[in-house]
Amino acid sequence: MKLVVLALPAFISALLSSASPVHSHEKKALATVYRQCIAPKTVALTFDDGPFNYEADIVDALDAAGVKGTFFLNGKNYRCIYEAIAVAALQKAYKSGHQIASHTWAHLDLTELSASQITSEMQRTNTALQKVVGVTPAFVRPPFGSTNNNVRTVAASLNQTVALWNLDTEDWDGRSAKQIIAAYDSFSRGNPNSSIVSLGHSPLDVTAHQVLPSVISSLKQKGYTFVTFAECVGSNTPYLTIAKPGTRDNTWRC
Ligand SMILES: *[C@@H]1O[C@H](CO)[C@@H](O)[C@H](O)[C@H]1NC(C)=O
Ligand SMILES: *[C@@H]1O[C@H](CO)[C@@H](O)[C@H](O)[C@H]1NC(C)=O
Repeated sequence: MKLVVLALPAFISALLSSASPVHSHEKKALATVYRQCIAPKTVALTFDDGPFNYEADIVDALDAAGVKGTFFLNGKNYRCIYEAIAVAALQKAYKSGHQIASHTWAHLDLTELSASQITSEMQRTNTALQKVVGVTPAFVRPPFGSTNNNVRTVAASLNQTVALWNLDTEDWDGRSAKQIIAAYDSFSRGNPNSSIVSLGHSPLDVTAHQVLPSVISSLKQKGYTFVTFAECVGSNTPYLTIAKPGTRDNTWRC
């Protein structure tokens, strides 16, 4: 009897010690991944891969139509985020109420990187957006939409949520304005009650100058409500921190 009483706790403790490392690994927080909005018939227009030449023009087109969009920005892709033209465009977008979000630093496929490299790609962009705009983005879109549990674990460790899309306009693949406009039309006909999170690219002339007025007026006619990505997923927290932008110094370089 005494032996059994002694043996039982030993057995349990052996079980626990072998199980606990796996258990704690599995319990690492994973960032939520969103591909669509919570409410039907809402639309989040999103623009990846800036800054380049046209963010300010996109802001003008959105403002003229009275709708908000979301920019997922790289630190160094088409242009360095610290260049004066980029700083001005991003501050303008933020002041006009458009959402500023992260597309990570150098547009790498995060699933091919180590956890510390993923952290660096995300953190460096957050730091740049703190300096340039004054905010830490709560949402991050992995380049190519390429995500896995490592990416989600790092995003969660930075308190960020992963933002994907459900309508790829394929503007990145050389589509004409007519084809891009048709992609919105076809999606909304095929999924009349769905939300739309559209993927467009702000460095593309076609997206900045030929698509938006037509798409926005058509979606308005169909009864869609325009939202930022944060609003789209029911969050009132687009930013983890909000402060004044920094002052240019010798750390503002790519
Ligand atoms: C994430 O949020 C927690 C809880 O609010 C906070 O303690 C931590 O500092 C945050 N981490 C980052 C990187 O912002
Ligand atoms: C869309 O919603 C309307 C109104 O709720 C409903 O009558 C219609 O059947 C729905 N259409 C589809 C394709 O689900």
